[in-house]
Parts: sequence; structure tokens; C-alpha cells
Amino acid sequence: MKVALIGNGSIAKIVTQFCAEQRDRYNVVGALGLSKDKASVGPHAVVYTFEEFLAFAPDLVVECAGHSAVAAYAVPLIERGIDQIIVSTGSLADVDLFNAIQAAMRKTQAKVKLPAGALPGIDALSSAKLAGLTRVTLRSAKPPEAWKGTPAEGLHNLQAIRAPLVIFSGSAREAAMMYPKNANVAATAALAGIGFQGTKVELIADPRLACNTHHIEAAGKFGSMALTINANPSPYNPKTSHIAALSIMRLLENETSGIII
Ligand SMILES: NC(=O)c1ccc[n+]([C@@H]2O[C@H](COP(=O)([O-])OP(=O)(O)OC[C@H]3O[C@@H](n4cnc5c(N)ncnc54)[C@H](O)[C@@H]3O)[C@@H](O)[C@H]2O)c1
Repeated sequence: MKVALIGNGSIAKIVTQFCAEQRDRYNVVGALGLSKDKASVGPHAVVYTFEEFLAFAPDLVVECAGHSAVAAYAVPLIERGIDQIIVSTGSLADVDLFNAIQAAMRKTQAKVKLPAGALPGIDALSSAKLAGLTRVTLRSAKPPEAWKGTPAEGLHNLQAIRAPLVIFSGSAREAAMMYPKNANVAATAALAGIGFQGTKVELIADPRLACNTHHIEAAGKFGSMALTINANPSPYNPKTSHIAALSIMRLLENETSGIII
């Protein structure tokens, strides 16, 4: 399978390593990057225009770049009938982009595949949805410094936080729009479960934490669930949970395996 990457960072590096270990199944044919991405994370070439990227003729594109990349390339890929994995799921909180993706998909057979990312229980949540969910809540806690460069920095003195502090409480849509780099998990929970408005999110700065912690609770006809993940950071990017890259590898496994799980 010919895999092309959008992005040239920590997730791209881990996915590239995985594909190299499974050469008989995956061939990373190239990556699309920004001009700052001078060196490739693997033996493949990095290009800087969408036209050059399309020349790689991939079977599957893996977006591991950010919201701007989804906004720029998701629809054009669908229009060309190319399947894609989108890890920057928070981008789909943008109603216009989401509707454009849906509209484009009505015209081609191309699929958009969303990995669980850093969130546990996405399989259970999306199954439970089919019988009806009444409540989904997500609490995402990170060390205070992880909230630098977000609206929380303007509201609180992050360095002075000595006890867990709720820095945001609202819908998954608001979380994904206000905290685009930190709330992909909120969007993934929303897309798997009861949507962006119905999913309630709390974002927390917790000085006791050394890693990112996500706690998801759901209730409905299926029963109830409560799951917590203490997610270690990527060895290449402290802001990204290592399991986000692993969840892409799981989708790649399912692309080429006889048994899908
Ligand atoms: N779903 C989840 O749970 C989850 C978890 C972690 C990260 N993510 C998403 O994955 C993305 C990548 O994570 P990472 O750790 O690899 O980040 P990173 O910063 O290490 O690498 C991002 C790469 O993408 C490139 N890039 C950014 N915008 C681009 C664009 N418009 N076109 C082409 N290239 C572009 C950058 O230059 C860089 O090479 C994050 O931005 C985040 O949106 C999702």
C-alpha cells in the first residue's frame, strides 16, 4: 500500500518507522510539509505543494500536521477519490469544513478514517451510540505548562497554579474551536458519540501531573462507562501523546489485515 503523509513531525516519524518495519505491506512514498520542514523524517521526499504531493499517487494519505492541513487538503483529496486518515480531528468542529467534506464524499467513494488518537473507549462509545447515548463527558487534564499559548494563558497565571484548576468548561465544539491544539480528543469523543454540542468537556491545568490524562464517561441504553488514560508523551514531541501515533498504526494494520479489530 502506497502511503503519503501530510506532516513531517513526531507522528509522521513514528508512522514512517512503523511502515519501514513492515516494508512488504506499506511504502511511504512521500510527505507534504511546510517550508520549515527541511529534512524528511525518513528516506522519502518532502514536497511543498499539493500538486507535487499528488504526483506520489498514494493509495492512502495520513494527515498528521494540524487543523490548517485538514482545511486545505481534506476536500481536494476526497474529490480525487483518495482515502485519508485524519488525526487532527478537532478541525472537524468547523461546521463549514465538516459539511464540505460530507458534500464531497457524496460524489466519490473516498473514505475519511478517524483514529481514536489519545482517547480510550472510542470503540465502546461508537457502539453504544447505536442504541442511544444520554450523556458523554470528557475531562482532559494536562500540566499547566501544556496550556501555554492557549486562551488559558490570558486568563490565569499558569506558573502560579498549585492545585487542579478548571480552565474551560463547555461543549466539545467550543473546546475544539478555542483550544485547537489541545482538544482533538474532545472532537473525537464528539464524533464517536453524541456530537459536538452534546459532549460536555472540562479542560484542567493540574500541576501534579507529569503526563496528559483524559477521563471519559458515558451513559445510555448500553449501560455506563468510565475510562481514564494516562498518556505518555511522544518521544519526539512532548505535546503529543505517544498513543496518537499508535492509533494511526492500528488503522494501517486494519487496512492490510484479514482480521480487523
Ligand atoms: N487525535 C488526537 O488525539 C491527536 C493527538 C495528538 C496530536 N494530534 C494532531 O496531530 C498533529 C500532528 O502532531 P505531531 O506531534 O506530529 O506535530 P508536530 O508539530 O511534531 O508535526 C507537525 C508537522 O506538520 C507540518 N504541518 C503543519 N501544518 C501543515 C500544513 N498546513 N501543511 C503541511 N504540513 C503542515 C509541520 O510543519 C510539522 O512538520 C497535531 O497538530 C494535532 O492536530 C491529534
